[in-house]
Amino acid sequence: MPTLTNKRVLLGITGGIAAYKCAELSRLLIKAGAEVRVVMTRAAREFVTPLTMQALTGNRVHLDLLDADAEAAMGHIELARWADLVLVAPASADFLARAAAGRADDLLTTLLLATSASVAVAPAMNQGMWSDPATRRNLDALQARAWRVFGPAEGDQACGDVGPGRMLEPAELLESCAGLFAGEPLAGRHLLITGGPTREAIDPVRFLSNHSSGKMAYALAAEAAAAGARVSLVSGPVALPAPERVARIDVVSAEQMRAAVLERIGDADVFIGVAAVADYRPAQAAVEKMKKNEREMRLELVRNPDIISEVAGLAERPFVVGFAAETADLLANGREKLERKGLDLLFANDATGTFDSDEVAATAIFAGGELEIPRSRKEAAARKMLALIAERLPAAAAST
Ligand code: PMT
Repeated sequence: MPTLTNKRVLLGITGGIAAYKCAELSRLLIKAGAEVRVVMTRAAREFVTPLTMQALTGNRVHLDLLDADAEAAMGHIELARWADLVLVAPASADFLARAAAGRADDLLTTLLLATSASVAVAPAMNQGMWSDPATRRNLDALQARAWRVFGPAEGDQACGDVGPGRMLEPAELLESCAGLFAGEPLAGRHLLITGGPTREAIDPVRFLSNHSSGKMAYALAAEAAAAGARVSLVSGPVALPAPERVARIDVVSAEQMRAAVLERIGDADVFIGVAAVADYRPAQAAVEKMKKNEREMRLELVRNPDIISEVAGLAERPFVVGFAAETADLLANGREKLERKGLDLLFANDATGTFDSDEVAATAIFAGGELEIPRSRKEAAARKMLALIAERLPAAAAST
């Protein structure tokens, strides 16, 4: 099944009878995991109403370049930056001519000049117009700008002619769009990531915790989502905003983290344990704030569940990736954890200079090998880590 998980598709609709197929097209794009926003030319509105497209996509339809309200909500440059793919369907002969000339005389042509997203057009017109040398020249000019052309198909036309010029069917357009991203190794995979610290309550105002900021986990989540994965991030208390396109589940304690993970592990292709989970918790959290009358205070601690070991021990388990922050014997301790916890891959990093830092240096440890990831910003390191994970993933059907 074609997937567009987490992809942002800007659907440009121009004036042509095939515009009615955009209702089905937007439905299929959304079903494949894409977020869809629609831009309609004036002529398109003669064939399908903005209200229909708004109801189907759940987003306000963008119509005019010079609309102050719309610009305030999401300006045309913002819209151009937002998209991963601009698909113009149907693309009329007039639109192709204006785009080929580099015109910016309406919202759609303007944002197409501004965007760095992939652009694809699905031409739809009378067979004579399609075969006209002017249309051929316009298409050549657009393809020279790396625009993709999907179709058209041949067959009976609305005007009674027979020949090339029919817009491809919505299902065929979906296949073509998904094909543009199919090379992305994490496309359509579900990644479940834990991040941040856990807090283990001593009493209503005190807790045991650690210095994890969540930066490493959030960088991995953001980069995985940008690479087309569906990402669930089970996060301990951190001060970071949820990355775009990521489903964040907030937890506090190790036991809550375990429950949130086990609830979602069923369809995960990859589990990455980045969280610095507290190994112990107070045996009993006091109900009332504890008084400091005594010179000494003793806390009885009990072991927390080892979440990653539990995931690695599941009969139907995802690809399991751990982290280890060590202050000494990084590689030996990392490999020991990889083997003891039954992991597929582990990133060992130096605890000093990693907790709450924007940068990380890590060593990937796996059966039969090791690989250095030199110190860099966590986002850049995350991309390398995800590439290593992707190349080790068993080839399986994507989960969405
Ligand atoms: O959040 P940042 O400030 O960006 O810092 C990132 C980090 C230093 C927290 C991160 O890079 C890191 O190293 N995380 C793992 C911390 C650690 O040392 O964990 P551990 O050795 O206690 O556990 C090893 C593995 O088991 C980890 O994948 C951990 O998530 C998992 N684990 C541990 C204990 C437990 N009860 N359950 C677990 O799942």
